[in-house]
Amino acid sequence: MPYTVIIGLQWGDEGKGKIVDAITPAFDWVVRFQGGANAGHTVLVNGKKHIFHLLPSGILREGVRCGIGAGVVVDPQVLQDEARAVEAEGISLRGRFFVDARAHLVLPHHRYEDHFEEEKGRGVGSTRRGIGPAYRDRSARMGIPLRTLFERPEKRDRLLERFFEWNEAILAARYGKPPIPREKVVEDLLRFRDWVAPYVADVAFLTQKAHEEGGQILLEGAQGAGLDLAFGTYPYVTSSHTIAGGATVGLGVAPRAITRVIGVMKAYTTRVGKGPFPTEVRDERAGLLRERGGEYGSTTGRPRRCGWLDLPMLRYMVRLNGATEIALTKLDVLAGMGEVPVGVAWKVGQERYEWPPLGMIPLEEVTVEYETWPVPEDLDRADRSPYVLRLEEALGVPVRWVSVGQAREALLERARG
Ligand code: IMP
Repeated sequence: MPYTVIIGLQWGDEGKGKIVDAITPAFDWVVRFQGGANAGHTVLVNGKKHIFHLLPSGILREGVRCGIGAGVVVDPQVLQDEARAVEAEGISLRGRFFVDARAHLVLPHHRYEDHFEEEKGRGVGSTRRGIGPAYRDRSARMGIPLRTLFERPEKRDRLLERFFEWNEAILAARYGKPPIPREKVVEDLLRFRDWVAPYVADVAFLTQKAHEEGGQILLEGAQGAGLDLAFGTYPYVTSSHTIAGGATVGLGVAPRAITRVIGVMKAYTTRVGKGPFPTEVRDERAGLLRERGGEYGSTTGRPRRCGWLDLPMLRYMVRLNGATEIALTKLDVLAGMGEVPVGVAWKVGQERYEWPPLGMIPLEEVTVEYETWPVPEDLDRADRSPYVLRLEEALGVPVRWVSVGQAREALLERARG
């Protein structure tokens, strides 16, 4: 039985949470493999909106086990708050939720640094959740994986001291800030340790065992491929590997075990934060898309930049991720607009690209060639509309789901070809 990865093909906010929630009943496990509380996965159930930053969106389906993999950075407070909110709904986590002991912690130093950097106008427009600094510390071998909290006290304290010294030096040198009281941070961490203890596991091992026993495992990506640390629009990216390949190192799964990759994309494009965006709309239609689509960050509330579909970018991402099927979301937002522009090729100087070598393209210099495509008026039949059929043809991948509204039910599933 294969592992399935679900990732965003644009710059995040593609509506992955809704698709994960819809397909979760077919899985035994749903696992996050990268990112942290910068993500905001929205699921609407019975008119109630749930936004998950750290817990996998599968958590609302009680028969399913959920995990946070080794590649995720975990903010202790966010995890506790989310877990308590879910339990307050009568949904139990015990025995069905696990967090990998290797996942690194996001500590107050990381959040402050991220915040100060943005305040000074030097950041990339981050979510200020401490994600970049936490991953930096992990790579610099200065970070605190969850398992550190369970080490012998002398060893634990030594590792924490090292972390404090390093981060206090950064906060002082770059921002002129005094140290954050260590005792308070340690006290909070020890309280968190006691709370999290029943959930800590080797999630890679648990899911490998489940896989061997025939279990179905869904790997839930956060953000989108355009924000990938290596393949996105660097430096305007997040600090983790958001592409399907990130799942191998973010959970701990052999590449050959991943046989299905669901690419989620919106019927138009959005981006939050800074960075190039070739099909960005700069006239009043951007406001129209934003209002109709509710395009405000689910983590930060920031208005999202809006634009049309960008086929060259999508083609690159479909290939990079090996997408085997597509979930198209928010097609209802376009309904009523008659026809809309769709970016079909890029031009840089004399060159025209439908399948651009993204790493070699100065995105700021791209001009986009557009076609106009009709948008469906009858949402019940939107999955057979020219917009969907033309998209399928342009990308060479079947569109398996078409989402036409926020509710769980507003999802059309097409036969698997
Ligand atoms: P960070 O991940 O908070 O460091 O932010 C880096 C970039 O990724 C910024 O442009 C953010 O707006 C963007 N970003 C991070 N998480 C998300 C997300 O879940 N959706 C959309 N954009 C995101």
